[in-house]
Amino acid sequence: MVPMAKFLASILLLIPFAFADVSFNYPAVFNFGDSNSDTGVRIAAGLESLELPNGQTYFRRPAGRFCDGRLIIDFLMDAMDMPFLNAYLDSVGAPSFQKGCNFAAAGSAILPATASSVSPFSFGIQVAQFFRFKDRVLELLGEGNKYTRYIPMVDFFSQGLYMFDIGQNDLAGAFYSKTEDQVIASIPTILVEFETGLKQLYNQGARRFWIHNTGPLGCLPQNIATFGKDPLKLDELGCVNAHNRAAKLFNLQLHALCTKLQGQFADANVTYIDIFSIKYNLVANFSRYGFEHPTTACCGYGGPPLNYDSRIPCGQTKIFNGSSVTAKGCNDTTEYVSWDGIHYTEAGNLHVSSQILTGKYSDPPFSDKMPFLLKLKF
Ligand SMILES: *[C@@H]1O[C@H](CO)[C@@H](O)[C@H](O)[C@H]1NC(C)=O
Ligand SMILES: *[C@@H]1O[C@H](CO)[C@@H](O)[C@H](O)[C@H]1NC(C)=O
Ligand SMILES: *[C@@H]1O[C@H](CO)[C@@H](O)[C@H](O)[C@H]1NC(C)=O
Ligand SMILES: *[C@@H]1O[C@H](CO)[C@@H](O)[C@H](O)[C@H]1NC(C)=O
Repeated sequence: MVPMAKFLASILLLIPFAFADVSFNYPAVFNFGDSNSDTGVRIAAGLESLELPNGQTYFRRPAGRFCDGRLIIDFLMDAMDMPFLNAYLDSVGAPSFQKGCNFAAAGSAILPATASSVSPFSFGIQVAQFFRFKDRVLELLGEGNKYTRYIPMVDFFSQGLYMFDIGQNDLAGAFYSKTEDQVIASIPTILVEFETGLKQLYNQGARRFWIHNTGPLGCLPQNIATFGKDPLKLDELGCVNAHNRAAKLFNLQLHALCTKLQGQFADANVTYIDIFSIKYNLVANFSRYGFEHPTTACCGYGGPPLNYDSRIPCGQTKIFNGSSVTAKGCNDTTEYVSWDGIHYTEAGNLHVSSQILTGKYSDPPFSDKMPFLLKLKF
């Protein structure tokens, strides 16, 4: 199905809900997270490179995103009538940070990085980068108007939206060296670290918080391939039970933290978004939303059912047993939920974004933002 047809099919299924209005009128967005919302930090940092077919569907080139096209953050920026967020570390091409800045970096976790971490840009580092960014902006604004096309105004920091999508790597990464009980026991420590960063941002003037919970990690081809060899460990959708249980417990405690902070930050708004339910519903009811493959990677190696091989990232070629093999993209990415076994396809991200914008999956709920979505460009 072409993206527009799928998109229309998915909005026709939505039931309008009427709730308190959330202003979608923000002068700037500051985003913190991992690969789910990284628009180029990891690649700009030179930690890794991306090859086609990454980026092919929308950007026609690898665009710093672990996806064939746009991420949820891109669709949400579009829905707010704002340009895509530039990556904090992108230095060439005079990127404008006037409408905000993206600190999210693929592989990042909430807990501080260790020598074996995939990314050095843990949540605390991203918050520190934000403070450095803000200090520099205030300094430049003090020099007059010459930079106004490139940097936010002073009050954008209090009126802007602070978005967060992080925690997946704290959980999924920990399963490689810890038992399920140990992973679950570590959740409060992870969330104390998250709370510390949120409070620092609040103390420096952030007032609008938008927090995504973590998805059904057990439904990712990567985790099914690595931890799902025993069918008794899978649920009825073929997802790894342990990972989904840990994700749900993380989300329960994250939701409680959001409620607590909303109580403490009387003059702020904290919006919690239930990404888990949207994604699990998509994996369960994929055909109703126009997809054909819920847990097969589009870009990978090995063929069905998972088409995932941890040794060959999407777009790369390796020599196995003397012959060259490549992790290639599928013919029609819109049939697939999973792009590379770890991240969602653009089609998957569009579906998730359209569900977020119904306002039904958030606490507090907000009224339907469909009129914004209809402006999305395909
Ligand atoms: C929080 O939300 C309420 C209700 O929508 C709104 O009146 C208020 O201005 C918001 N506050 C901030 C800081 O965005
Ligand atoms: C799948 O769709 C059915 C029908 O709308 C719904 O009852 C069910 O909760 C959905 N499954 C999940 C996992 O959300
Ligand atoms: C390489 O050869 C070994 C032994 O024949 C086989 O078990 C393995 O699956 C092969 N690897 C690949 C990637 O084809
Ligand atoms: C992709 O399309 C080509 C040409 O139509 C076909 O030969 C190939 O089998 C298709 N691949 C898949 C995975 O469907």
